[in-house]
Amino acid sequence: MLKHFRFHHIGYATDSIAAFSAEYIRGEYKMNEEFIDNIQRVKICFLHKKDNPTIELVEPLDEKSSINKIIKKNGVCPYHICYETDDINADFDLMCQLGYTPLFRPVKAAAFENRLICYFYKKEIGFVELLNSKMEVK
Ligand code: NI
Repeated sequence: MLKHFRFHHIGYATDSIAAFSAEYIRGEYKMNEEFIDNIQRVKICFLHKKDNPTIELVEPLDEKSSINKIIKKNGVCPYHICYETDDINADFDLMCQLGYTPLFRPVKAAAFENRLICYFYKKEIGFVELLNSKMEVK
């Protein structure tokens, strides 16, 4: 964990964005449009409510999606916290030095206007996602 990381969202694995979001919409959360991420093979949307942390819902697109493993093992569950950073490539190296295992190098994410994301795993804390604050040029 690095001191300049800024909390961005908590991510839930779910087999039904529709069923999950219905509960939160009842609690006056607003849901944005759904995004398809063909790299991660998932459908993504966000639930927002003023003064509350943003919740990301991640639903598998098909059986190839790696999120299936998490749902099979734990059911619907929160499984990552995402932090925003201004230099994801530099922080990728720093996190590796701190003993975090990268799941993949930074890739563009459809749900974030093609900003770069990457994921890490560490036994003591589970999954951490990084999101670059800047959009990729081109
Ligand atoms: Ni996320």
